[in-house]
Amino acid sequence: MIEDLLVNQAREDDLPAIRVLLQETNLPSEGIEPHVDNFIVVKSQEVVSGPEIIIGCVGLEVYRSSALLRSLAVHPDMQKKGLGSRLVDLATGSAKRKGIETLYLLTDTAEEFFKRRGFSLIPRERVPEDLLQSIEFTTLCPDAPCFMKQI
Ligand SMILES: CC(C)(COP(=O)(O)OP(=O)(O)OC[C@H]1O[C@@H](n2cnc3c(N)ncnc32)[C@H](O)[C@@H]1OP(=O)(O)O)[C@@H](O)C(=O)NCCC(=O)NCCS
Repeated sequence: MIEDLLVNQAREDDLPAIRVLLQETNLPSEGIEPHVDNFIVVKSQEVVSGPEIIIGCVGLEVYRSSALLRSLAVHPDMQKKGLGSRLVDLATGSAKRKGIETLYLLTDTAEEFFKRRGFSLIPRERVPEDLLQSIEFTTLCPDAPCFMKQI
């Protein structure tokens, strides 16, 4: 049940488990380290005192009043239960509290998911210059469609 899950801001020692989850969901993990303070992780309650298993995560790369939402991942066994939507809501709330006005993201795997959550497809020319320097834009997803949402 997703009500029993633990949601936390990520710590540096969560990085190995985040990387495992990103690998399992075929997402790149390069460049996440400097942004780990802006990651949210979900752990399963039963494994809290054992080896940590992270079953969901999402991160923000913050660039002044904009942020790149990245690394949204839910473990394949836990998908389609509402956890991905909850992570998007949590990341959006966290971004608002940081004074961010616009979220951007790159995806070629979850376009419909994000459209149904209010994100619109935009040309890269509309992306702020500092965001375009992110490794996601330059190297990891150079051809992926870009989405935006005012929050
Ligand atoms: C994209 C991703 C994060 C979605 O996670 P998720 O936990 O499955 O997301 P949700 O359960 O909130 O929503 C997925 C669908 O399940 C449906 N759903 C939610 N709860 C449900 C339930 N209890 N029963 C049945 N379906 C349900 C939702 O309505 C949604 O459908 P929709 O998109 O047509 O509205 C997940 O598929 C994933 O990790 N994909 C691989 C990585 C990736 O592509 N990430 C995005 C790029 S950053």
